Amino acid sequence: MIEIINKLRQDFDYRIGSVSNSKQLEQIRIEFLGKKGQLQGLMKELRNASPQEKPKLGKDINLLKQHVEQTINDKDVSLGSKSFKNSSENFDTTLPGRKELTGTLHPITQVMEEITSIFFGLGFQVEEGPEIETDYYNFEALNIPKDHPARDMQDTFYIEDETVLRTHTSPVQIHVMENREPPLRIIAPGKVYRCDSDVSHTPMFHQIEGLMVDEGLSFSHLKGIMNIFLQEVFGKNTQIRFRPSFFPFTCPSAEVDIQCVMCNGKGCRVCSQTGWLEILGAGMVDPAVFQSVDYDPEKWTGFAFGLGIERIAMLKFGINDIRLFFENDLRFLKQF
Ligand code: PHE
Repeated sequence: MIEIINKLRQDFDYRIGSVSNSKQLEQIRIEFLGKKGQLQGLMKELRNASPQEKPKLGKDINLLKQHVEQTINDKDVSLGSKSFKNSSENFDTTLPGRKELTGTLHPITQVMEEITSIFFGLGFQVEEGPEIETDYYNFEALNIPKDHPARDMQDTFYIEDETVLRTHTSPVQIHVMENREPPLRIIAPGKVYRCDSDVSHTPMFHQIEGLMVDEGLSFSHLKGIMNIFLQEVFGKNTQIRFRPSFFPFTCPSAEVDIQCVMCNGKGCRVCSQTGWLEILGAGMVDPAVFQSVDYDPEKWTGFAFGLGIERIAMLKFGINDIRLFFENDLRFLKQF
């Protein structure tokens, strides 16, 4: 009987070698492994063997069975991948196609574009400036001298002694005024960097700077423009208030709040029970800034403002952790 087993193994190895499609493979599978197949036949034969021979023969038959199963499986895999490429018979034209995934604009980009287009409608032009700045543009020309305590407000990334990653978009004001004569109406969207990280701060975030310079501009122009802009973004009924504040490059300076969009001013966790949310910094351009770009402060007046895009996007979409914007998790990004 041992010879029969060996013969069957040789026979199988020979036949499997010439199998070239899944139909032939199926035939062989039935012939060898089927209910009435060769291996089943051997098992029947085993009953007639002597008790001494039985264990050894049983083991041999099992080994052969494993060999046959394994070889057929391997063959199936290799035929599967080949036949998919080669033959149209396995191509099911009724299966639905794979949808092409289209991306969407990042929520920060969406908010940035929305704000830009509001100011575009008010006659503002878009300007850009470098993200790597000199100390002069980021601080000095904006009336923030060395050792000024206002430098501590912004946790600056220094590249070299006199070179920084810009901590705000305000240096773009200086670049623009150095190169152009008033009247001016510009906004400058872009990335800014501060060494800070928690649920409401990331080391890189986005700001939009605004600057308007003309003859006879006053604080009421600033208020008017801020009103239009904030009601456009947060809705016509948004209440706005100006709080006195300080920035070295504007005077007088203000921080602008909107009534809390979460609780409509009643007081909640988001607005720390105050009913108001700080939204941007603004003020009349300080004469010292005009002097550093050779504008005559007696002739020109202007206002500037700066706002954080992430903060606005968080309030608009009800997002409570700023870091979600930069994790690139599609489950998050797909919602916008
Ligand atoms: N640059 C200020 C900041 O980042 C914001 C600001 C811009 C304030 C323009 C006043 C005028 O905090």
